[in-house]
Amino acid sequence: MRDAAPQTIYLKDYTPFGYLIDSVSLTFKLHPTETRVLSRIAFRPNPDATDQTFFLHGEELKLISAKIDGAEVSPVVTDEGLTIENAPSAPFIWESEVEISPSTNTALEGLYMSNGMYCTQCEAEGFRKITYYPDRPDVMATFDVRIEGSENVLLSNGNPGASGEGFAEWSDPWKKPAYLFALVAGDLNNHPGSFTTRSGKDVELNIWVRPGDEDKCAFGMQALKDSMKWDEDVYGREYDLDIFNIVAVDDFNMGAMENKGLNIFNSSCVLASQATSTDADFERIEAIIAHEYFHNWTGNRITCRDWFQLCLKEGLTVFRDAQFTADMRSEPVKRIDDVIALRARQFPEDQGPLSHPVRPEEFQEINNFYTATVYEKGAEVIGMLKTLVGHDAYYKALDLYFERHDGDAATIEDWIKVFEDSTGRDLAQFKRWYSQSGTPKVSVREEWDAEGGTFTLHFNQSTAPTPGQDVKDPRVIPIALGLLNPNGDETHSTQIFEMTEAEQALTFTGLSARPVPSILRGFSAPVMLEQDIDNTRRAFLLAHDTDAFNRWEAGRELARDALLKMILEDAAPDAAYLEGLKRVVTDTSLDAAYRALMLNQPSETELAGVIAEMGQTPDPVKIHAAAKALSKAKAESLADALPALYTENQPSGAYAPDAKGSGQRALANSAMSLMGKLGDVEKARAQYASADNMTQQIAALATLVREGEGDAEVQAFYDQWQEDRLVINKWFGLQISLAKPEEAAAVTERLTQHPDFDMKNPNRFRGTLGALAGNHAGFHHASGAGYKLLADWLIKLDALNPQTTARMCTSFQTWKRYDDGRQAMIKAQLERILATPNLSRDTHEMISRILG
Ligand code: BES
Ligand code: ZN
Repeated sequence: MRDAAPQTIYLKDYTPFGYLIDSVSLTFKLHPTETRVLSRIAFRPNPDATDQTFFLHGEELKLISAKIDGAEVSPVVTDEGLTIENAPSAPFIWESEVEISPSTNTALEGLYMSNGMYCTQCEAEGFRKITYYPDRPDVMATFDVRIEGSENVLLSNGNPGASGEGFAEWSDPWKKPAYLFALVAGDLNNHPGSFTTRSGKDVELNIWVRPGDEDKCAFGMQALKDSMKWDEDVYGREYDLDIFNIVAVDDFNMGAMENKGLNIFNSSCVLASQATSTDADFERIEAIIAHEYFHNWTGNRITCRDWFQLCLKEGLTVFRDAQFTADMRSEPVKRIDDVIALRARQFPEDQGPLSHPVRPEEFQEINNFYTATVYEKGAEVIGMLKTLVGHDAYYKALDLYFERHDGDAATIEDWIKVFEDSTGRDLAQFKRWYSQSGTPKVSVREEWDAEGGTFTLHFNQSTAPTPGQDVKDPRVIPIALGLLNPNGDETHSTQIFEMTEAEQALTFTGLSARPVPSILRGFSAPVMLEQDIDNTRRAFLLAHDTDAFNRWEAGRELARDALLKMILEDAAPDAAYLEGLKRVVTDTSLDAAYRALMLNQPSETELAGVIAEMGQTPDPVKIHAAAKALSKAKAESLADALPALYTENQPSGAYAPDAKGSGQRALANSAMSLMGKLGDVEKARAQYASADNMTQQIAALATLVREGEGDAEVQAFYDQWQEDRLVINKWFGLQISLAKPEEAAAVTERLTQHPDFDMKNPNRFRGTLGALAGNHAGFHHASGAGYKLLADWLIKLDALNPQTTARMCTSFQTWKRYDDGRQAMIKAQLERILATPNLSRDTHEMISRILG
């Protein structure tokens, strides 16, 4: 629980710890309420440190005994740890014994229990809830672990050692920080596998699950093998232990965790089967398995010096997992998906009260900085760096990074220096991407000199002030662009224009006709592009651009523009947009996934953000009405084509969650949903009844529910899946996401009374209250019932699980976009949360920042 005054930690205050650790040995005597943890740690003074205070972090621990070199000592103990005054100035052995209670640990940090199984989550600062230790990432050590417990399976990091009735020993030869420690004990079954590294080493692979889940592991196992191979082929990185274990856990705050040799996964991010997982689930599972596996090099072998450097491992690893997905599936589709996600999650963060640099400079609770900015913008920064230096130089720099920093706890300065040294480039200005927050706006003005055949693009960049940063300096912005001639042929293929000044121009000469520029191809920088472009031009690019991303973007902008005119000017749906859409969607030379993406429209939340960026006040009611009206208009315009789109895109043969099959199902399901808009739900009803996979089953259910025709199917779905907790999460979420605006809060409230609602399970809590926050018109209904309900539940959850509560506070981050009435209602709820006695440090920090 929070002390009176929350403490702020600053990057500039970094100092190394006073001691180094040669080895750690831990013994766990497992018990639900009285687990004993014995530690034996060899410390020696750190020659690089000036401060030799011997402070060990420790929270919620019952200290049984403490010894230095075998003699009992009496530390000064506080809520945050212990201090030994006059610790030895020569190497010494620290021994302690503590008692902890995993079964009452609802925060899911440290050692806790989930369905009778012991598991750990130590990143970022959870190890201090297990034993007294310098719990900071720059303190690295080898760990030997002995687990004593009656469970069948006893796991920890590294390679297995001795084991027998009631015990198992593990030893991790690689130095690691405490946040990568893991322990699992339970009656589990495994799905085994193996991998031979390119140097010929055999690695044992396992996915450990609760009995009954064994049939949902095959896909994850394949994804793991694909990831191991890919990291060898693309980055030249091999796995470095004899064994790699993955464990699925039901109660988990995050998606998954990269503990050395023992990855722990939220069961929703690893268990997969045709009957219970959607295509999107399969793709996500493949990406998360890759992400955590890739951390073995980018995160574990090279870790972070301190938590301010989080993007060093997360931004880079997100970038790597995106490269992997692009290679495994479709590069343009992955890029489009990522840009949609960036605009949905990172842009609002960067343009609101929670805006912070990719490398933050201060925090109260580090758990609050596992953000879209650190992750997704962090990955965009790596992508820009790769664009600037080029493919070969990028991989050469990465080789130097691994060579120079293997075994280190590194910083962003180290990372940048590697690129400078290996390419000879000065990256001082580029580094602003790490220190300046806010989304840059890039505007472009065109100048055409017909007589001289000269075409000039005048660029301007600016970034609005963000909390704590009033003045912004120009950044290095790689702008990928090409030119088309009026016939639609590309005359200038993609080149990279490096913008470094606030204003800069680029001139093309010797042109015979005014060209059409295609700017920011592939979304080459995370900026907002403003160009002088009308719908004729957009339709032209939609038809002719050679860059798949910009072609999609042109269609997206047509949709956005049509919606904005409907919302702000009560206009009718734009006929030219509908025509262009029809052409693309019925063009069978384009792949199905891409056509399905084209058929989507910007979300209501995104539209609210766009309207706010225009300096106007978004009205959730009008936005909702326009979104519905545009869907209806699309359905009418495509009416003749829909039946064929539906039937021609039923994948043939056995179900496979690959790019092709997923794309076809996505397109067919969109067609089905549009037919629903025309009052035809027969396809949906038939598909619901016959589906042999969750993608088609739940899409059919969604269409029926959206058209108010799904009551029987909602009940049938529950009856069919009530024993499957992951599918039931979807059942909760779907009803709330699709609830009518005036009913969303009541539907949510009713579902929180359902016997299967369990606030202690983060997946269920997010699936329910998170779905409410995601239902834009429902959450922002003028009654304020949505705001109040979410606040009620956040207050309740905070007492049990601060980390998940604080993350969900972000649902309120855009509150200043809305009208005075809604602002006042949200503010009242935020203040009510803030006034809650004993509010966690996590939630306190988030709400204070959101209130501003
Ligand atoms: N290291 C994180 C997990 C983590 C985050 C633990 C915050 C504790 C606090 C892990 O590598 C991660 O980033 N997981 C993501 C999924 C990934 C695919 C981006 C997650 O859990 O959401
Ligand atoms: Zn990660």
